[in-house]
Amino acid sequence: MDPIKISLIVAVAENGVIGRNGQLPWRLSSDLKTFRRLTMGKPMVMGRRTFESIGKPLDGRDNIVVTRDPNFDVSGVSVCGSVADALTLARVLALTRGTDEIMIVGGAAVYDLTLPLADRIYFTRVHATPDGDRAFASPDLEIWKEVSREALPKGDRDDHEATLIVFERAMPES
Ligand SMILES: NC(=O)c1ccc[n+]([C@@H]2O[C@H](COP(=O)([O-])OP(=O)(O)OC[C@H]3O[C@@H](n4cnc5c(N)ncnc54)[C@H](OP(=O)(O)O)[C@@H]3O)[C@@H](O)[C@H]2O)c1
Repeated sequence: MDPIKISLIVAVAENGVIGRNGQLPWRLSSDLKTFRRLTMGKPMVMGRRTFESIGKPLDGRDNIVVTRDPNFDVSGVSVCGSVADALTLARVLALTRGTDEIMIVGGAAVYDLTLPLADRIYFTRVHATPDGDRAFASPDLEIWKEVSREALPKGDRDDHEATLIVFERAMPES
């Protein structure tokens, strides 16, 4: 078995929405703190649009961006032309860093391509129903088992309450 786990990390509204107009459809400081804690020290794989929405490489983590644009070049970012190449690089970087987890940080296009390969999903359920143009389906409970759940209460810098649910793969992809 591969000792390096592939984990998706995603925040999903009650109606499945994860994005709108290239951005997050909410302000959720509590979830951003959780994201920072869970990704720190690990390789992160993201689509080019998600990178543009973040706007800069995130510190303390490997930033691997998937794009078909051969001219995409940003300091502090590793660029890959396919998800397969990105995962190969992420594995090498994970071993170098001594971590056993690769974090897939979105967006919708990259989640779709990596969900079949994933071992774990850090799923923040955002208790809201915003309009949006990108979605992520609730994990199929025939395949995924909930292993933990933690409330993220609404603080001063949060638009909504949220709940962090961790799922682990219970059944291999058929
Ligand atoms: N709620 C959350 O947790 C969360 C997390 C992340 C993102 N988001 C949101 O999701 C939205 C972005 O998602 P998205 O689906 O539009 O974009 P995305 O997945 O971030 O990026 C898509 C881009 O990645 C590249 N790409 C995708 N598949 C590829 C492949 N097979 N080979 C090579 N390159 C590939 C392409 O870049 P090129 O066009 O450059 O070729 C493509 O346009 C935003 O609204 C963002 O805020 C939400």
